[in-house]
Amino acid sequence: MRSAVVLLLSLMVAGIALAGSGTKEDPWVIGMSQCNLGEPWRVQMNADIKRAAAAHDNIRVDFKDAQNDSLRQRTHVEEFVAQKVDCLLVSPLEAAPLTPPVRAAFKTGIPVVVLDRKVIGQDYTCFVGADNKLIGEMAGKWIAQRLGGKGTVVELKGLMTSTPGQDRNSGFRKGIEGTEIKIPFEADGKWLEPNGRKEMESALSRLPKIDLVYAHNDPMAHGAYLAAQASGRAKEILFVGIDALPHEGMMYVKQGVLAATFLYPTGGAEAIETALKILKGEQVPKEITLETVGITAENVDEWLKKAGN
Ligand code: FRU
Repeated sequence: MRSAVVLLLSLMVAGIALAGSGTKEDPWVIGMSQCNLGEPWRVQMNADIKRAAAAHDNIRVDFKDAQNDSLRQRTHVEEFVAQKVDCLLVSPLEAAPLTPPVRAAFKTGIPVVVLDRKVIGQDYTCFVGADNKLIGEMAGKWIAQRLGGKGTVVELKGLMTSTPGQDRNSGFRKGIEGTEIKIPFEADGKWLEPNGRKEMESALSRLPKIDLVYAHNDPMAHGAYLAAQASGRAKEILFVGIDALPHEGMMYVKQGVLAATFLYPTGGAEAIETALKILKGEQVPKEITLETVGITAENVDEWLKKAGN
């Protein structure tokens, strides 16, 4: 209670008039700036946020979708600040262009929870997401073992101006260090399935032998699989992705399309719990790291069951 009063006073000093007061009649307003809703994983993140928020009648979440456009997302963040939301959630498309607006929001006294992709620097309240360097490294180690320490890998990278793309790349390189694995083809597929397919078509036309495709997410891994299937080479190649949504990556593993996928939790529920703590004046850590796990034919049934499928 005392910390809530202190928070209120400091916000008043900072000149912020709160949008809500945290009651059923006048709920706190949380602005959620989503970078894109074109991929199933982000649709799931928004659904997780909605479900978690629905359990509390003292908050309301307003959503904006930047449709894969950093300038639009910047405007959305600025609109939430102008609207004087009580808390801002943001899952940034790209690190550099979203850093100034996120910093500006934070500096006006609005608590900011950054989700999944990072901004540059520390000007936010809390980051919620999995450790993408670790995921890349786990994938690298699994792949090295599966290929017996040698072979030809195609790497389909996520948007390299976003932190998960950078980290899944550097983590992977670390994971295969000291092996004889070669990566003669790598491309930025910007997280999108059609790009994964197109880039894989070029890889297939250039390389007579490909042992495995490491894609930074399941949609690109699936796109690559479709390209290999169309050229009659799907059976001689292994496909590895990241995300492991029950109705997407886990199903691909179950169907034998993917050899492995690594769980990348959306963090939607954790973001709402964190926002609530902040709004009540409780302390939160600077970073909340979500767990990951490798999913293969061996454990996919157990994970599908856990997900309620
Ligand atoms: C969805 C997505 C996921 C990926 C995450 C990384 O937009 O591309 O597939 O794991 O973003 O931020």
